[in-house]
Amino acid sequence: MTDKLTIFDTTLRDGEQSPGASMTREEKLRIAKALERMRVDVIEAGFPIASPGDFEAVQAVARAVRDSTVCGLARALDKDIDRAGEALREAASARIHTFIATSPIHMQHKLRMTPDQVVEQAVRAVRRARQYTDNVEFSAEDAGRSEIDFLCRIFEAVIDAGATTINIPDTVGYNLPHQFGETVRRAIEGTPNADKAVFSVHCHNDLGLAVANSLSAVLNGARQVECTINGLGERAGNAALEEIVMAVRTRHDLFPCHVDLDTTQIVPTSRLVSGITGFAVQPNKAIVGANAFAHESGIHQDGVLKSRETYEIMRAEDVGWSANRMVLGKHSGRNAFRTRLTELGIEFNSEEALNAAFSRFKELADKKHEIFDEDLQALVTESDLEANVNERIRHIALKVCSETGETPQARITLLFDGEEREGEASGSGAVDATFKAIDSIVQSEAQLLLYAVNNITTGTDAQGEVTVRLERSGRIVNGQGADTDIVIASARAYVNALNKLLAPTQRAHPQAPEI
Ligand code: KIV
Ligand code: ZN
Repeated sequence: MTDKLTIFDTTLRDGEQSPGASMTREEKLRIAKALERMRVDVIEAGFPIASPGDFEAVQAVARAVRDSTVCGLARALDKDIDRAGEALREAASARIHTFIATSPIHMQHKLRMTPDQVVEQAVRAVRRARQYTDNVEFSAEDAGRSEIDFLCRIFEAVIDAGATTINIPDTVGYNLPHQFGETVRRAIEGTPNADKAVFSVHCHNDLGLAVANSLSAVLNGARQVECTINGLGERAGNAALEEIVMAVRTRHDLFPCHVDLDTTQIVPTSRLVSGITGFAVQPNKAIVGANAFAHESGIHQDGVLKSRETYEIMRAEDVGWSANRMVLGKHSGRNAFRTRLTELGIEFNSEEALNAAFSRFKELADKKHEIFDEDLQALVTESDLEANVNERIRHIALKVCSETGETPQARITLLFDGEEREGEASGSGAVDATFKAIDSIVQSEAQLLLYAVNNITTGTDAQGEVTVRLERSGRIVNGQGADTDIVIASARAYVNALNKLLAPTQRAHPQAPEI
């Protein structure tokens, strides 16, 4: 039996730090339950001191999740640790993750502390965290640019103080795989009490090397990897969970460790995270992209038909792409609908929620002949988005006139703060006119940063999934909408983003010097 590689998911904490990816408590709960279903070992649910909303979200995840360890982030400060300890009180298995920067540049310019002071504060933080749980992780922020001797010194001190996991983050994504692997190996060899802790890595993707660096670390002794679904995260993101897990599983001949996850939950969870955050998955993304298992070329198709191993190194169904894709149609009943959703790992909190999703399914089935798993997932995410966002705006009806040689016109009816309002506008295209018509009512003064359309399945009757990114006064939000009519999908995505923008928020950043 090989060593276990602990999978630590930080979609709900570092992933949420992507501009526009902030999630409500209910959204976090849905993702946490999906991660638990996937049997992720540790779920980092948030940064409790950051805001009352973050605290409540961590608390809710700690109450709801029973089979995974739930973790809360805390700077190496008493008040952060106490807040994390309080948020995690009801967890079946709790971990406090405390961190302080260890690179010369961070200690000097950000913390304005000497190395001795940093060691002292780290030790104090770990001791305090141990008062709440015996599962304490210490991170040396910016370890990728820290001196190895200093890392070994601080690691020895915090392990003596009770840290059970030692995390080596490449906070700014600066390292190369051979070098990062070497850092991890030297850190383990140079820490006299290294055998009393699990060594972990946390890599950012600024040079596109987060997964490669993490895997190199595993080959050099790391036994925990921190990662996110779809590689979500600050700037260029974190190491993608699905890539780490499938690399270790597919190349078990090379890795001296194994993962215990249910990999068939990967694709449904990826879709859930993408739907909730509004971060679309690029079609050629490894494992979870729409084309990841599509063999277009004749030579490939011929080879795969003769023997799938000729070109396939993994089976699509092992990561949750369903083998039997056509699932439901116009005549399918509530039972078939519920059964298929249960097979996809989608649960409803109430009969009303199931009924609402079922009516949307019937509406969709009237327009679209065959309903695929991807349609069901988008439909449930849509219903969920509508139910969860603190909605001030609701889309009621849209009429668009688009004719060759004429300027497109849109007329939209919205429910805005409980009052039915109509807006009209013309634009350079149907979508432009629709957005302007919405603006004529809402007057948000938001800037459109991104507009993207993705086909959920194939064919001209496929649903289009639209992502809209808006910015106002430095705040960025993403919205998503799906429909067989892409102009309606666009209106839904725009309204979804505006609802997020208009909702009150108050969050702090974990790496910020003071809150
Ligand atoms: O990137 C980083 O250094 C972090 C730490 C808080 C672990 O996210
Ligand atoms: Zn990070």
